[in-house]
Amino acid sequence: MGLFKKKTMTADRPVPTHIAIVMDGNGRWAKKRGLPRTAGHKVGAETFRTIANYAKSIGLKYLSVYTFSTENWKRSEEEVNAIMELLEKYLRELIRDMDKNQVRFCFFGDLSRLSPQLQEEARIAAEESKKYSGVQVNFCLNYGGRAEIIRAAQQFARDCADGKCTPEALTEEVFSDLMYSAGVPDPELVIRPGGELRTSNFLLWQSAYAEYYFTDVLWPDFGPKELEKAIASYNGRNRRFGGAK
Ligand code: IPE
Ligand code: IPE
Ligand code: MG
Repeated sequence: MGLFKKKTMTADRPVPTHIAIVMDGNGRWAKKRGLPRTAGHKVGAETFRTIANYAKSIGLKYLSVYTFSTENWKRSEEEVNAIMELLEKYLRELIRDMDKNQVRFCFFGDLSRLSPQLQEEARIAAEESKKYSGVQVNFCLNYGGRAEIIRAAQQFARDCADGKCTPEALTEEVFSDLMYSAGVPDPELVIRPGGELRTSNFLLWQSAYAEYYFTDVLWPDFGPKELEKAIASYNGRNRRFGGAK
């Protein structure tokens, strides 16, 4: 193997270590078909299944998906309830099929606002999938980038007040370890289907140097081919990180 670390390759191109996706466009997908918005969320959940399996097959190590934001509570009670019910059903199936899929699950976000049942399912999914070494899926659930940063700042302030550290001890590494994503490398590529050109509060800290890929394709229509297009676009970029290469 020589001195070089083996890069994950599919066909003849490298695959990033961590891809993050804003799963957007479910509502518009449904509206275009004269269906209720919840029908779009159902198909969107299936799309996630397909993409997670595909991600595993190409050797991706981390896949973060924006599932429900801290701002999504602004939607109608009917839609929020439908999304939560779908999530409960989805997590139950995920726990059932865990051994077959060999995917590791993590949850980023404030789960305390979710139903006790959903919290319990998330706990079981995370706990029992720790043993798998396939792709790690990070479900960003009741997640907001700003809320995450505030939470980390509060934790650090508490540690200082308790005499465990001093303000000078705060570095980017220390702060990163206070995020939900502690221990997970930053995403190299953030994909947003659905046509909007914004982050909507997704992984603000972690995406400082991410490459963005936007597409008009709505999430329920986003297949492996679209993911390949995003990876190809990423592979064609010159990442300078502020340097002058
Ligand atoms: C993303 O799709 C799913 C969630 C935010 C829960 P949307 O529901 O935002 O779909 P559009 O953007 O209205 O089409
Ligand atoms: C971002 O999509 C959140 C998720 C996909 C979970 P939104 O549809 O909520 O974002 P905005 O409202 O277009 O900014
Ligand atoms: Mg949307």
